[in-house]
Amino acid sequence: MRNAFVKFSGKTVVITGASSGIGRQAAMDFARQGARSIVLVSRSEPKLSQLAGEIAHASPSCTAIPYACDVSDKSQVLKMGRDILDRLGSVDVLVNNAGFGIFKNVRDMSVEEIESITATNYHGMIYCTKAFLDSMLARNSGHIVNVASVAASFGVAGLAAYCGSKFAMLGFSESLYHELCGTGVKITVVSPIAVKTNFFNHESFSGRTPNYTGFALKPEAVSKAILAAANSPRLEIIVPFYVRGAVWFKQTLPYLVQPIVGAISRQKL
Ligand SMILES: NC(=O)c1ccc[n+]([C@@H]2O[C@H](COP(=O)([O-])OP(=O)(O)OC[C@H]3O[C@@H](n4cnc5c(N)ncnc54)[C@H](OP(=O)(O)O)[C@@H]3O)[C@@H](O)[C@H]2O)c1
Repeated sequence: MRNAFVKFSGKTVVITGASSGIGRQAAMDFARQGARSIVLVSRSEPKLSQLAGEIAHASPSCTAIPYACDVSDKSQVLKMGRDILDRLGSVDVLVNNAGFGIFKNVRDMSVEEIESITATNYHGMIYCTKAFLDSMLARNSGHIVNVASVAASFGVAGLAAYCGSKFAMLGFSESLYHELCGTGVKITVVSPIAVKTNFFNHESFSGRTPNYTGFALKPEAVSKAILAAANSPRLEIIVPFYVRGAVWFKQTLPYLVQPIVGAISRQKL
């Protein structure tokens, strides 16, 4: 903990999806561990203001700045980037965490629902990355943490648009990881299994939460991985770590693993 405090002391952090769940917990934890300024981004200004108040109370040396922004809207994100850089000068850590899922067969999902998931989870991450990347490169310093999911490695029935957005996030991040080599700017993906948050409150999950959520993590575990990621040279941190074995197994023996994943994930559809 002491080491982490030194690492984030005086740092400026931007977190998208900060009003709830994983992002909210990460904001509290960055503040506790020495961050000087944290920009809290989501669409719900009242929730962000309430969180900023809680951070001010718990970590008085940290300035928490609520910033209402829909990350799926390119012009809003680019304006946010300019506003934040004008006000704070630079950003040390960008956590692209905003995201949601809809649990439906592709057949029953509208094109607009699929577009909306892609626009938030994938395009939103790209807009935010573009908003801050140049300034990080100019300083040869900065870390982008992208919150994906094990759904970036496993396609499951009922979450095609969501899995597609997370596979895309991982692919984009892997390419950017190679491009950033030697620049001083880093990117790390955090890929958790299911987490107990409002994610599953979307009406499409009602009464049929997928089976694999039985093993759901607490947001604290993912937040811990996000803070570790912000100081890590690695491309991807899977939470919990041993699930990397399942990813390896699926990629190595897909014809054995895919029928099992398919059978489990179809059960609640
Ligand atoms: N929960 C899980 O099982 C799980 C597992 C693996 C990965 N993840 C990923 O973890 C991330 C955080 O999810 P969570 O579990 O913490 O869910 P959550 O509690 O529902 O939080 C989602 C956050 O994203 C924000 N958000 C959604 N759409 C947005 C938009 N268009 N613009 C800006 N902010 C937006 C929401 O804020 P507003 O509504 O205020 O805008 C909220 O703060 C997501 O990317 C999710 O895919 C979750």
